[in-house]
Amino acid sequence: MLSLTANVLLFALAVSGAPTPIELTKRQAPFEVTEQQPWDAGAVYDFRIHSSCNASQAYQLRQGLNEAVELAHHAKDHVNRWGHTSDIYRKYFGTSAPTTDVIGAFDIVINGNKEETLFRCDDPDGNCELMPTWGGHYRGDNASHETVICPTSFFERRPLSTLCAQGYNVRESSRLIFWASDLIHRLYHLPEIGQGFIDHYAEGYEGIVEAAANNSTNTTRDSDGLQYFALEAYAYDMILPGEGCPGPSGPLASETSSSMATATATSAGSASSASATTTASSAESTAASSATTTSAAVAEPSSAGSDSADADDTANGENCHSHADGSLHCV
Ligand SMILES: *[C@@H]1O[C@H](CO)[C@@H](O)[C@H](O)[C@H]1NC(C)=O
Ligand SMILES: *[C@@H]1O[C@H](CO)[C@@H](O)[C@H](O)[C@H]1NC(C)=O
Ligand SMILES: *[C@@H]1O[C@H](CO)[C@@H](O)[C@H](O)[C@H]1NC(C)=O
Ligand SMILES: *[C@@H]1O[C@H](CO)[C@@H](O)[C@H](O)[C@H]1NC(C)=O
Ligand SMILES: *[C@@H]1O[C@H](CO)[C@@H](O)[C@H](O)[C@H]1NC(C)=O
Repeated sequence: MLSLTANVLLFALAVSGAPTPIELTKRQAPFEVTEQQPWDAGAVYDFRIHSSCNASQAYQLRQGLNEAVELAHHAKDHVNRWGHTSDIYRKYFGTSAPTTDVIGAFDIVINGNKEETLFRCDDPDGNCELMPTWGGHYRGDNASHETVICPTSFFERRPLSTLCAQGYNVRESSRLIFWASDLIHRLYHLPEIGQGFIDHYAEGYEGIVEAAANNSTNTTRDSDGLQYFALEAYAYDMILPGEGCPGPSGPLASETSSSMATATATSAGSASSASATTTASSAESTAASSATTTSAAVAEPSSAGSDSADADDTANGENCHSHADGSLHCV
């Protein structure tokens, strides 16, 4: 080291006469500052939260987003470990769908670049005020990387730690009552995450499970199927190991919304909120979006109390969202 320094000094002296040590330092400076940027310079790994979210909203949303990543992380791990041998995998994606689509769909939630993704808490399009039961909405053409989270979310969304609690089961309850799954749903609407590839294909829990049983295409990129899978895998592996809370098996009492209401009202052991949700989602899966008012009316009686989240989610249009072309989609 010493001799190298001496050589450099000698060389410098030979070329330029008799520089002072200070000049020598100056000449070497370019070599010291032209370090390359790291390959991932500019990457943003945290979701961006707009300044319109106050301290408590930002805190809650940050926790929810962390849980969305945790849920996605476990879902990905489950698929990497068990692949097609997992009953839960086969239930939602079928026996033949390659696992790589699912692994990628969860990985992008965890590791995708979040540079453009923005969550805000004001109401720039006026939809929260217009639809007080909405948990939030995608801004579509108005701002294609932005998601609005409405006040309702801050009252009704639950932490993952309540998975399998408070009457929840995967089949009969809304998949949107948890911050984690609700936010994964919202993320898939963003072009940088869902890329227009992960979207809504089969209708509702029953439709998704049926499509998987048929080896139908699109199961591995069905936004709702990915959420159901993630919730069921987390419940089965982490919350109640080896058991989970998939909900009842076998056919439900009826496929029609009116008899569903009767069936769920009499089903013991299931919270009123879960019943209401089943009612609402089955009504939606059998009718066009114009049926929203009908299903809302059906779900109305159970929306008293803190568990109204489930009913509101699906029945009153919380799960409506605009696509990039501005069209409104209710599922
Ligand atoms: C944030 O806003 C909500 C809704 O307006 C309000 O209830 C809450 O108290 C606010 N939190 C803080 C820390 O100001
Ligand atoms: C976009 O903005 C317009 C005008 O403010 C509004 O009418 C429309 O509902 C907004 N779209 C969405 C998806 O919120
Ligand atoms: C599944 O296959 C059955 C029988 O071919 C068909 O009636 C049903 O519509 C299919 N369901 C879905 C969701 O693809
Ligand atoms: C789905 O695929 C599996 C394996 O490829 C096959 O055994 C099964 O019969 C298929 N199911 C249907 C309904 O086609
Ligand atoms: C799968 O998605 C494509 C493209 O959106 C659509 O054309 C096709 O009908 C879908 N297939 C099924 C079985 O839903």
